Amino acid sequence: MTCKETILRIEAPCKINVHLQVKDLRPDGYHDLESIFVALAFGDTLWVERTEAEAGCTILMDWKALQAAGSVPVKGTLPLAKNSVYQAVSLFRSETGFKGGIRIRVEKRIPLGAGLGGGSSDAASTLRALRFLVAPELPQKQLWEMALVLGSDVPFFLRGGVAFVSGRGEQVLPLKAVEGLWVVLVYPGFPSDTANAFRVLDQVRPEPGLGQEVGIAELIRALGDYPGSWPYNNDFLQVFLEAGNQERAAVYRRIVQELKGLGADFAGLSGAGSTCFGIFSNGGVAKKAGVLLSGRRTGLNQRYFVQVTFPLAYWVNEGVE
Ligand code: C5P
Repeated sequence: MTCKETILRIEAPCKINVHLQVKDLRPDGYHDLESIFVALAFGDTLWVERTEAEAGCTILMDWKALQAAGSVPVKGTLPLAKNSVYQAVSLFRSETGFKGGIRIRVEKRIPLGAGLGGGSSDAASTLRALRFLVAPELPQKQLWEMALVLGSDVPFFLRGGVAFVSGRGEQVLPLKAVEGLWVVLVYPGFPSDTANAFRVLDQVRPEPGLGQEVGIAELIRALGDYPGSWPYNNDFLQVFLEAGNQERAAVYRRIVQELKGLGADFAGLSGAGSTCFGIFSNGGVAKKAGVLLSGRRTGLNQRYFVQVTFPLAYWVNEGVE
């Protein structure tokens, strides 16, 4: 059965990595990771529908929300070939033989190059929507394989929630929801290039895993503890602070300090940057921190983009899964 007239609205949440350890460089050019991913109640929204146009694919990117958010560097264009929604549609077509028309509108809220997984989440939601609309019989395993072709973080977003992620990103172990915590995201006004961040890390780090030896069982167990005692860290933040662009390092250092100064129980960097986050046990304190930080400027003379949100237990769009 397929649904021809449906316009499907599907959310594409962002994520943070509360912990991110980069292990060895692999022969395939990727790195093994150990990371705890947490999907948040802040993200993009996609509207996906089938159209009559044979093999046509229309993608309308709506940047209004991002532009209204302040100094986010959006020029209003993203080359089609680099658009993860387009990549997902193309891969889905070649893997399933689907030739029908598709129209997708994407309301972008997640800043680009922010370490929040916006493009990956959009790709995962596109795959899920296409499966629902045109190939409900498609095995989940095949969707998962397509997700990994699209990017290392995409498999996580097929389910969302909280997960321990390892391998290149394809080993996703779902974890219990994180409850009672608030998250303040601070995007510093400049993007970070993931591939370049991995290169810098390889150049400056003598050996992976130095200085941090917490077992996986302990990493997972600690998630239920008071965030002030989390044993988590982000290898990229360490490298950026010690050996990265000094202007940006100063911004990261300041934001993490500001978040802690405003009551965050834990503060860190998400992914390979550039978004910093604070974890708060008290919602009132988190909201106040959000208001105070929104007014501040980075050393690069741009306003912070600040979002107060919370972890999603898991996310399911009615009828899609
Ligand atoms: O998979 P994705 O396209 O998100 O990766 C972008 C780049 O980040 C890769 O080309 C690779 O250089 C680096 N990367 C890595 N190890 C990972 C994930 C990404 O080295 N596990």
